[in-house]
Amino acid sequence: METWDAITSRRDVRSFEERPLPSDQLDRILEAGRRAPSSRNWQPWDFVVVTERDQLTELAKVWRGGGHVAGSAATIALILPDSDSARERELAHYDLGQATMAMLIAAADLGIGSGHSAVGDQARARSLLGFPEDRYAAFLIDLGYPADRPLKPIQKPDRRPFDEVVHRGRW
Ligand SMILES: Cc1cc2nc3c(=O)[nH]c(=O)nc-3n(C[C@H](O)[C@H](O)[C@H](O)COP(=O)(O)O)c2cc1C
Repeated sequence: METWDAITSRRDVRSFEERPLPSDQLDRILEAGRRAPSSRNWQPWDFVVVTERDQLTELAKVWRGGGHVAGSAATIALILPDSDSARERELAHYDLGQATMAMLIAAADLGIGSGHSAVGDQARARSLLGFPEDRYAAFLIDLGYPADRPLKPIQKPDRRPFDEVVHRGRW
């Protein structure tokens, strides 16, 4: 896919085909995240990738709106360090957003759909994924081939109008 097509084809996918993702494609998605830019190149993230069905089913329970994780072919848990510093937390989220979007675009480029889930139950997430006490699971990214229809460029996305969002020179 062309980069622009990958950007415009990405959409929230919550139902997935049963078939697994080729491991080289899953690794490419993770590599896209690893290469993301971050403040002072501190790379605050760790990624825990889950592909076993039983583990996915349990992982889906960490958030009441995360049921779609159970049916994914793979889910990447995005792990961040805990911090007492508001500034550090803010930077970590900005940086993780960049890593996330790189992974979503890399997935779309391969025709792989993606969705997000928040994480409410940190204790359950920690016991399932084994990340250390000084980290937390910020979000889950679930992946798989879309069950409804293949990804293709969306002509009219559900977004605020361009001219409302974009201010040229001054608000
Ligand atoms: C930070 C973030 C958290 C989200 N959390 C959830 C979630 O917990 N459950 C869910 O079903 N969708 C979640 N979403 C998906 C959004 O609802 C979706 O991306 C948005 O409606 C835009 O639709 P699109 O992705 O198809 O363009 C989340 C998205 C983001 C960026």
